[in-house]
Amino acid sequence: MSARLWRKTLANRNDHVRCIDQSRSICFRPSTIERRIIDVTFVEAVSLADGFRLKGSRDPAKRPDASQPDLKQELPTLRIEFSKAIVPQESDALCEFDRMVFGAYPSDLFDKEDWAEYDSYWMTLDGKRIGCSALAYDIDFDGTPRPNCLYIASTGILPEYQGQGFGSKQKQWQIDFARRRDCKTIVTNMRQSNVRVIRLNEKFGFTQRETSPGYYSDPDEAALVMERRL
Ligand SMILES: CC(C)(COP(=O)(O)OP(=O)(O)OC[C@H]1O[C@@H](n2cnc3c(N)ncnc32)[C@H](O)[C@@H]1OP(=O)(O)O)[C@@H](O)C(=O)NCCC(=O)NCCS
Repeated sequence: MSARLWRKTLANRNDHVRCIDQSRSICFRPSTIERRIIDVTFVEAVSLADGFRLKGSRDPAKRPDASQPDLKQELPTLRIEFSKAIVPQESDALCEFDRMVFGAYPSDLFDKEDWAEYDSYWMTLDGKRIGCSALAYDIDFDGTPRPNCLYIASTGILPEYQGQGFGSKQKQWQIDFARRRDCKTIVTNMRQSNVRVIRLNEKFGFTQRETSPGYYSDPDEAALVMERRL
């Protein structure tokens, strides 16, 4: 269920609903849920909407509390996981995924040789591939050697899953991944006009470093280079 459908499920945007985290029960307004999908494990909140009658109340005093029965036992499990793509066995799948996400810019698509240069990681939602990151180590965005730098060559979420917090989940995973590898810097680049990913990166502490004119073609466009110190 999308965030939009989730919202429609509720009679009133001011209603409070009961969301189940792995460890605790939390009350959120639906508008808050849309903004904090990851924090409250959106898929599990949705499971509630699908599987149980929502316990709505406009009166905060009547919000569900810890004394409510613990429903988490009854929730179906939907899990976000990250796993390394196996190349070349999965090169076709990576190319196909790339076309679904970046199809509007055919000249930006990676071919099989490109994918072979990166360590790529699938992001799966209950086993379905909905995202992919392409990473390289110890280089800058232009291939210049740069020790302890993680280069994010690609970040993508399937169109039908965009705008629901999954890009944020993936970005946080990229940062955690870089920390685990003791990287000191993360660098990435995107079309200068790609406001969505620029905002996403800024939200996670990336700053704009420079532009690289003529980096992209069809249409010609500068790359914006962003980086984050760890
Ligand atoms: C860029 C992308 C990865 C973001 O993933 P997403 O799942 O849509 O992102 P989220 O829903 O987690 O949103 C995260 C942040 O991105 C920004 N964002 C998302 N949609 C936006 C939009 N339409 N306009 C402006 N900013 C937007 C916001 O800062 C948002 O945070 P907020 O909701 O707290 O304001 C995804 O849209 C995508 O795959 N796009 C196509 C591929 C691409 O351009 N990749 C980047 C180049 S490598």
